[in-house]
Amino acid sequence: MPTISRRTWLKAAGLASISAPQIGGASPIELPLNTKKIPSSGEAIPVIGIGTNRYGVGDDLEAMQPLKAVLETFAAAGRGVIDTAPLYRNSESVLGQLIKELGLSDHFFIATKCDVEGSDATRDQLASSEQKLHSGTLDLVAVHNLKHWREQLPILHETKQAKQIRYVGITTSRDRQYEEFKEVLATQELDFMQINYSLADRDAEPLLQLAAEKGVAVMINLPFGRGKLFDAVQGQELPDWAAEFDADSWGQFFLKYVVSHPAVTCAIPGTTKVRHMQDNLKAAQGRLPNAEQRKKMAQFYDSL
Ligand SMILES: NC(=O)c1ccc[n+]([C@@H]2O[C@H](COP(=O)([O-])OP(=O)(O)OC[C@H]3O[C@@H](n4cnc5c(N)ncnc54)[C@H](OP(=O)(O)O)[C@@H]3O)[C@@H](O)[C@H]2O)c1
Repeated sequence: MPTISRRTWLKAAGLASISAPQIGGASPIELPLNTKKIPSSGEAIPVIGIGTNRYGVGDDLEAMQPLKAVLETFAAAGRGVIDTAPLYRNSESVLGQLIKELGLSDHFFIATKCDVEGSDATRDQLASSEQKLHSGTLDLVAVHNLKHWREQLPILHETKQAKQIRYVGITTSRDRQYEEFKEVLATQELDFMQINYSLADRDAEPLLQLAAEKGVAVMINLPFGRGKLFDAVQGQELPDWAAEFDADSWGQFFLKYVVSHPAVTCAIPGTTKVRHMQDNLKAAQGRLPNAEQRKKMAQFYDSL
């Protein structure tokens, strides 16, 4: 798997003076991070990003401070994916404000979504996302939960053609949408798909396979099942064999399972805490489980 050095990332982002922050006594991030390539372009992105569906904290400056520290920690590790959406209350505005305050415009790979009906409304929503996120170009815009995809995909492609966005995608996190999702994936031109996948929920595997065959990048949402995977292992010791693929926490164990799937490009665990961000970034380092180890992980989880 290719890796990208921190120096390269920071240089590209004009961030040479930023050092990996050490916050709350947690160990600083070791670099480089593992990356995978987006099939349609060959661009490499870190295998761990961040989901921000809980970043819509209104204009509460106090609530924004921990989120700012998370983003700073994430930034020091490279040009990772930040996933947001107009649907996540004012997450886009909060991110835009924090990214601007940190002086990190253009540093991250920004992925947002669209979900409105009608061409004009879609164009307006894209312009609004761009403005809120203070991003010259949105890296990825995906149709949220396939909402109005027949109308939206042509507009997204048109916008990509005009270089206002870089990649086009679709998302779901609902098993009941998988049939329709499969149809869209099989018939439409896409750069990315985003779907729910974790040790607790492996139903997406046939769709991951299809994405690989079609050369579509895969972004994984709900890698912790909204946190329920941690509940399942509460009070359990991490098995000794997790060290064979360099996982030293349950978070790394769960994430390494997800990003070691050959079709998966990256995962976007949601976090609002620096120590969790640091933990999650460690899942982008060291060895990943091989096919046999992945089977063992699934059997282990199923036996809980
Ligand atoms: N259809 C769609 O397009 C769709 C649907 C759902 C989600 N999404 C995207 O996917 C992202 C991820 O989903 P999610 O955030 O709902 O669920 P998730 O990533 O499966 O789980 C998030 C939960 O895990 C906790 N956590 C994170 N890192 C941890 C660690 N290292 N150790 C222990 N706990 C940890 C978080 O708490 P803390 O905040 O305390 O860290 C939070 O409670 C969303 O933010 C969103 O961007 C997209």
